[in-house]
Amino acid sequence: EVMYHMRGLHEIEEEVRAYLGCAKVVVVPGDASEREEVKENIGKAASEVLLKHIRNDCIIALTGGSTSYHVIHALKKPNVTYENVLVVPARGSLRNHVEYQANTIVSMLANKLGIGYHLLNIPDNLSKKALDSVREEPEIGATIACLLKANLILFGIGNADEMAKRRNSDEQFMTFLHDKQAVAEALGYYFNKNGEIVYTSRSIGIKLEHVIQSAYPIAVAGGSKKAEAIVAVKDIIKKGSLIIDEGAANRILEIR
Ligand code: G3H
Repeated sequence: EVMYHMRGLHEIEEEVRAYLGCAKVVVVPGDASEREEVKENIGKAASEVLLKHIRNDCIIALTGGSTSYHVIHALKKPNVTYENVLVVPARGSLRNHVEYQANTIVSMLANKLGIGYHLLNIPDNLSKKALDSVREEPEIGATIACLLKANLILFGIGNADEMAKRRNSDEQFMTFLHDKQAVAEALGYYFNKNGEIVYTSRSIGIKLEHVIQSAYPIAVAGGSKKAEAIVAVKDIIKKGSLIIDEGAANRILEIR
């Protein structure tokens, strides 16, 4: 008698969690590298994790990207009134599809939860000079001050190459990333497979490292093609939650 023991998702979650060393891992069915709709499953699971962590008087920071978008899109407003909760973008705008920009997602979340928000109406990677003057704008200064006090940070994890292309990076930068063996991008940082930061996008000019250390991280990524990138950023999600799909989880366990 041949018996197949299908490994349950919980078993896979625990294996990935133990390997990456993060506090919580959620694995949803599917592989987003094969079916884009799987991001909806990730979004639903991650929105529940996010809701569990929102308290009165808290500040939520988030980045853009299609997976983050699905988190906020899937979120079902709970029957509670939040007091003094704010949501802010963790970065400026990428040359992204507008519906996936951090600002857009911030306002979606604010509308769903009935909470306050700040926007960052500046592009990513401004020149140093432009950035210095923009930061003197009181409104932008206030947003940055909030961001630095964030209690929760929701972000996507991308492949280095793909993210660089999405930002219309030139040939020279692509070669630089290749030379540095960059495999992952998250929060504007590019990482090699050992988790070392090999490049920092200028963004709004604050050190997001501080935010990563003081805020509870919730990272979302789907697809077997993102396995290497997820492994590379494991150190920044150690104290937090990682929501991925089966495609990514199985591949992570294969390449470990
Ligand atoms: O930094 C990484 C990106 O947020 C990932 O974007 O979810 O659209 O793949 P994505």
